[in-house]
Amino acid sequence: MDWLQILEECKNNVKSRIAPLLKASPNKPKPNLGIGAGGDPIKQVDLVAEKAITETLLGKGLSFTLISEESGIKRYGANPKQHYITADPIDGTTNITRGIPFYATSIAVSTKPELRTVHAALVADLFHNITYTAVKGEGAKRNNQEVKPSELVDLSEAVIGVDLNTYKVREIAPQITNLIEQTKHIRHLGANALELCYVADGTIDAFIDIRGKLRTTDTAAAWLIIKEAGATITTPEGKPLNAKLDPKEKLTFVASANRKIHRTILSLLKGKQP
Ligand code: IPD
Ligand code: CA
Repeated sequence: MDWLQILEECKNNVKSRIAPLLKASPNKPKPNLGIGAGGDPIKQVDLVAEKAITETLLGKGLSFTLISEESGIKRYGANPKQHYITADPIDGTTNITRGIPFYATSIAVSTKPELRTVHAALVADLFHNITYTAVKGEGAKRNNQEVKPSELVDLSEAVIGVDLNTYKVREIAPQITNLIEQTKHIRHLGANALELCYVADGTIDAFIDIRGKLRTTDTAAAWLIIKEAGATITTPEGKPLNAKLDPKEKLTFVASANRKIHRTILSLLKGKQP
C-alpha cells in the first residue's frame, strides 16, 4: 500500500477544508466546542481537519483504528486492527486560531497502537506548504528531498526548542536552568510536531519537552521522521522512547540533531555542569 500517497491526500483535504475557516476573523480567539479526548478544548478547525482525515481514509475503502487527539479512539470497517492511524489533525491550534503562521497536521500509520510500530508518517506545515514524510527504513524527506539533521555540537551556537507551557513550570524550571544558561538561542514556536521536524532537517539543533504534558498523538509521526533522518530522540534519562498510542498517553523527551549534542543536553538536564 502506498501510505505516503494516502497521507498526502489526507493533508490536501485538511488544507482545502480548513481554508474557508481561516478567512473569517483570522486572528481572533475562537469559541471552544468542548474538550477533546486529549484533554484540551476543541476548536472548529480541529474537528473539520479530523473529519477530512477520516473521510479520506474511508474513501480509500480502508478499515482502521483512528487514534485522534479530538475524537479519541474510533474503529472503522470490518478489520480495524489492520492499521492504526494516530493523528493530531491540527498541531498548533492556538497558533492557527490567532493567525500565527505555524501549524501542522500530523498523521502516523502503525501496525499496533504502540509508538515503535509506526512505519509511515507525515507532518505538514499547512501555512508554508512544507511536508515532512518518512517510511521506516527509507529515510525522511522534506517536500520529497532527503533531510539530514545538523552536525552542530556547540551549545552557544545551537538553536534549541524548549516547551515550558505548563502550570507546573516551577517544578520543571530547575531541571532546565543549566541548559538555558549555556544556550543563547532558545525557541518555542507552538506546534511541537513541526518543531521536531525542524530537528530532523537541521533547522534547529534540539527540541525538549519534559513537561509530561505532550500527547502521543502529537508525537507519533514526528518520532519516525526524526529517527529516519538520523537524529536522536530519547527519554530525558536517555532511554529509547516508546509509548502506547492513545490520546491520553503523555511523553517526555529530548530530540537532538546528533549524539554529541544529545549527550551534552542530557547531562545538563541531570544537573551536571558542562
Ligand atoms: C500543542 C502544541 C504546543 C504545545 C501544547 C500542545 P495542539 O498542540 O504542540 O506547542 O505546547 O502542549 O498541546 O493542542 O495545538 O495540538
Ligand atoms: Ca491538536
